[in-house]
Amino acid sequence: MERVDSRAGRPRHYPAKWVTPPLVTRRFATHPRGATERLSEMSADPSVPVPVPAPGSVDPVDVFELGAEHEQVVFCNDPATGLRAIVAIHSTALGPALGGTRFYPYASTADAVSDVLNLSRGMSYKAALAGLDLGGGKAVIIGDPMKDKNEARLRAYGRFVQSLNGRYFTACDVGTYSTDMDVVARECSFVTGRTVAHGGAGDSSVLTAYGVFQGMRASAEVVWGTASLAGRTVGVAGVGKVGHHLVKHLVEDGARVVVTDVHQPAVDAMVQEYGATAVADADAMVRTDIDVYAPCAMGGALTDEVVDVLSAKIVCGAANNQLAHPGIEKALADRGILYAPDYCVNSGGLIQVADELDGFNFDRAHQRAGRIYDTTKAVFELAHTDSVTPAEAADRIAERRMRDIGRLRGVWLPAR
Ligand SMILES: NC(=O)c1ccc[n+]([C@@H]2O[C@H](COP(=O)([O-])OP(=O)(O)OC[C@H]3O[C@@H](n4cnc5c(N)ncnc54)[C@H](O)[C@@H]3O)[C@@H](O)[C@H]2O)c1
Repeated sequence: MERVDSRAGRPRHYPAKWVTPPLVTRRFATHPRGATERLSEMSADPSVPVPVPAPGSVDPVDVFELGAEHEQVVFCNDPATGLRAIVAIHSTALGPALGGTRFYPYASTADAVSDVLNLSRGMSYKAALAGLDLGGGKAVIIGDPMKDKNEARLRAYGRFVQSLNGRYFTACDVGTYSTDMDVVARECSFVTGRTVAHGGAGDSSVLTAYGVFQGMRASAEVVWGTASLAGRTVGVAGVGKVGHHLVKHLVEDGARVVVTDVHQPAVDAMVQEYGATAVADADAMVRTDIDVYAPCAMGGALTDEVVDVLSAKIVCGAANNQLAHPGIEKALADRGILYAPDYCVNSGGLIQVADELDGFNFDRAHQRAGRIYDTTKAVFELAHTDSVTPAEAADRIAERRMRDIGRLRGVWLPAR
């Protein structure tokens, strides 16, 4: 009997070895194949035949199938303001879910659902690996931020987030800024990434870049025996909010920097301010003689073609979802290129906004982001011990923490 797999072609994170949410764990703990093999088959008893829907009866996106690991997916609809948003809570095993709000003109609702499910899952792993007491969640608002973003729509969104009563904290993401979070916060108590003037952490790219730099230092120590980029050539693809801060750290450390960006003024600023060398595009960059490649623009930067030609010994950058498809991490390892997992090294921004929950203190957040150096080294050490890629080692550490710390909730305590 052929099984319908609507996940085919879906951008996948590494398959989870266990199920994050305790509720789901209880439900499927007896399933011998674990949660990730659940598609349309929902019985815990492997002898029960897998039900196959009639041809044509399957939705283009079955949210229960795609979000089989997720705790909760909330669709928010307010026709008067035009708000169409989806909030996905992947896991609250370690604490309330935290993740940004992406304002993006998705071509279809199915695309928005896929994106929010994928992104929210990534947030669980990022928070777990960063040692935060937070779960993973994310939200998308469907629309063009340049045309559709306005006070009413953001405030309507804030009311829906408020309705989750703290199970999900929002923040900035692509298409949303700290000033937008100030507006959302007028309707909602569960908002981070607000402006400093409103008690927020402000622009999270400051500590994201700092964390990536720490991850790069840890990588340099493994490859060259010294946690310094002095004398190395680092290619930074994308010198936007994170990339330009990263260039500053690198130049201060004595590195030579090669940059590229589709936005020419951003490149010109790096050349003038830091003496960076500009190359035409990311394709030219990966073919240039560089020691470290730092993808800091969009996801999917590491394709088979890129891995084939890359001269760098280290890949360490800010962009989310750098691996174009599962298996690329193995191809990098086979070519002797050390890959610092994206969600490990780019967690500084999450650390920065998470600090708002305790009343923002930049020094405390900065110190915590500095520990990304140790976390990255721990990932490399486990990869070495377990003979796996760093990407898989990062997943193992995150999953272990979600399991070991998450289970403590099962020990009942009176309200503190
Ligand atoms: N800002 C944060 O705190 C944060 C945290 C974690 C991860 N990230 C990730 O880091 C990356 C950069 O984030 P950001 O906040 O700096 O975004 P940004 O939009 O400020 O910067 C991205 C830059 O990349 C450039 N760019 C886009 N396509 C390009 C291409 N094909 N080639 C070269 N340059 C290109 C853009 O012109 C822009 O200057 C994103 O993938 C983001 O998801 C950001």
